[in-house]
Amino acid sequence: MNPQEFDPADGWFAESVAAGYDSPGGANAPEVVTPVVDVLQDLASGGPVLEFAVGTGRIAAPLAARGLEVSGIELSRAMAARVASKPGGDRVEVTIGDMTTTRVAGQFSLVYLVFNTISNVTTQDGQVEVFCNAAAHLRPGGLFLVEVGVPSLRRLPPGQDTVPFEVAPGPDGGGYVGFDQYDVVTQQFTSNHVTVAPGGPGRFRRVPFRYAWPAEMDLMARIAGMRLKYRWADWDRSQFRAESTKHVSVWQKH
Ligand SMILES: C[S@@+](CC[C@H](N)C(=O)[O-])C[C@H]1O[C@@H](n2cnc3c(N)ncnc32)[C@H](O)[C@@H]1O
Repeated sequence: MNPQEFDPADGWFAESVAAGYDSPGGANAPEVVTPVVDVLQDLASGGPVLEFAVGTGRIAAPLAARGLEVSGIELSRAMAARVASKPGGDRVEVTIGDMTTTRVAGQFSLVYLVFNTISNVTTQDGQVEVFCNAAAHLRPGGLFLVEVGVPSLRRLPPGQDTVPFEVAPGPDGGGYVGFDQYDVVTQQFTSNHVTVAPGGPGRFRRVPFRYAWPAEMDLMARIAGMRLKYRWADWDRSQFRAESTKHVSVWQKH
């Protein structure tokens, strides 16, 4: 098994990952994508939008297909290469770069960063830079939206550091095991994906992340000159509560 699969150019989303990213169902299912696009279209109020870490255009392409002007920044060439082939994707202006530092031309009504991707930036300084870079792309009054899971620390019994999120035995001895492993001192965690194919080689993918509580992100937003406007538990704009497993937060630039 290869535990890393990190590509120096494309990061954790090299060709081997990009090739399977758009498989039907899961995060690509219309019932998942449409509510996201609905909320983003509403928040954009007709203005230009910018997606940080645009990936293969899962969200950006359908947003552009609705007539919005959409730009994206993306680290992985392998992921970005797939944007244009989607309906609406040929209208998405993609810049290859790091969302902590890369600037694109224009002033945007909305910058958004979905699907837990703020956590791919593994230092606090880097995450602050993401907030500052978002604010630098916004017009006054513009909005920055982040969708990210709440760290599952309340599921950790004392003395343990691992939270399994899926155990799925397959036929003929194959299967899948997924677990997150937390370091509560450094706020680093790894997501671990072990896939065993019957009769074939196994695959162990171990991806590093940094978690931050919603309150820490509010402070990052303050540093970047933004204030919390909305915090929802999901894309249905339901109220964020103690039991919420994720949040969709929106900050407004002064
Ligand atoms: C989970 S995918 C999400 C893609 C897309 N936003 C979506 O919702 O389908 C994470 C993406 O973030 C990109 N990424 C990770 N760190 C990045 C960074 N610092 N700057 C730009 N893109 C980054 C990865 O290459 C990958 O395409």
